[in-house]
Amino acid sequence: MIDLQGITKVYPTPTGPFPALKGIDLQIQAGEFVAVVGKSGCGKSTLINVFTGIDHPTDGEAIVAGTRLRDLSEGKMAQWRGRTMGIVFQFFQLLPTLTLVENVLLPMDLCNIHLPAERYDRAMHVLAQVGLAGDARKFPSGVSGGQQQRAAIARALANDPAIIVADEPTGNLDSRAAEAIFALFEASAAAGKTIVMVTHDDELAALAQRTVTLADGLIVNEVVRVPRPSQPNRCSDNLLESRL
Ligand SMILES: Nc1ncnc2c1ncn2[C@@H]1O[C@H](COP(=O)(O)OP(=O)(O)OP(=O)(O)O)[C@@H](O)[C@H]1O
Ligand SMILES: [Mg+2]
Repeated sequence: MIDLQGITKVYPTPTGPFPALKGIDLQIQAGEFVAVVGKSGCGKSTLINVFTGIDHPTDGEAIVAGTRLRDLSEGKMAQWRGRTMGIVFQFFQLLPTLTLVENVLLPMDLCNIHLPAERYDRAMHVLAQVGLAGDARKFPSGVSGGQQQRAAIARALANDPAIIVADEPTGNLDSRAAEAIFALFEASAAAGKTIVMVTHDDELAALAQRTVTLADGLIVNEVVRVPRPSQPNRCSDNLLESRL
């Protein structure tokens, strides 16, 4: 599903070129749940930006869901990305002038996913999945950082994408809420979605099927675990609410 070959990324800086990724080879299969870990500055967000097409690699090839990213024009990239993947950004990036439910509706409207008459119900459904049904009409500035983070997760789920990419999705959540989000991703993986989650939380990372460790722009370790038995009851709505 995600095939990265020899990816390098060199940032120009005032003090000269800075190599943030130094040759990444990584293959992730459909339905895999992969955690990406590593110290601050090791290149995790840069890697995500490359395979989501948000940024271009300096060298190497990224093929995602059968599409060679370099073949997509900027114009086509946004539609392709919106239809193929849901992204939870490290710093949420909710639109401040829209309510939470409007933020969740946006990717469906932009990519014309789901029938227009069904979009509101879909938005409320994914908000309920992250425990925010009661906060749908609030603005991002009117809720906590953890709630904004969960709204960003709901937005990523809205289009029902094949790939979910989450950069520190639990960084602002307490451990119970973090576990509930993890369980939501795990259920998505069990249902065939591909999940790539960056995290600083080693305990959470250890629960993923595979953990990829980055250091200084290189993959320095990979741990593959036996898949855990699927737990269908974890797919229920109001998952977070039932655990909070
Ligand atoms: N636009 C940029 N220009 C120059 N250097 C950059 C740029 N973006 C990132 N870097 C540098 O590249 C390296 C990797 O950054 P990146 O954001 O990928 O790290 P990260 O692993 O996501 O860190 P964190 O855990 O703090 O989010 C860092 O040293 C960072 O300072
Ligand atoms: Mg980062």
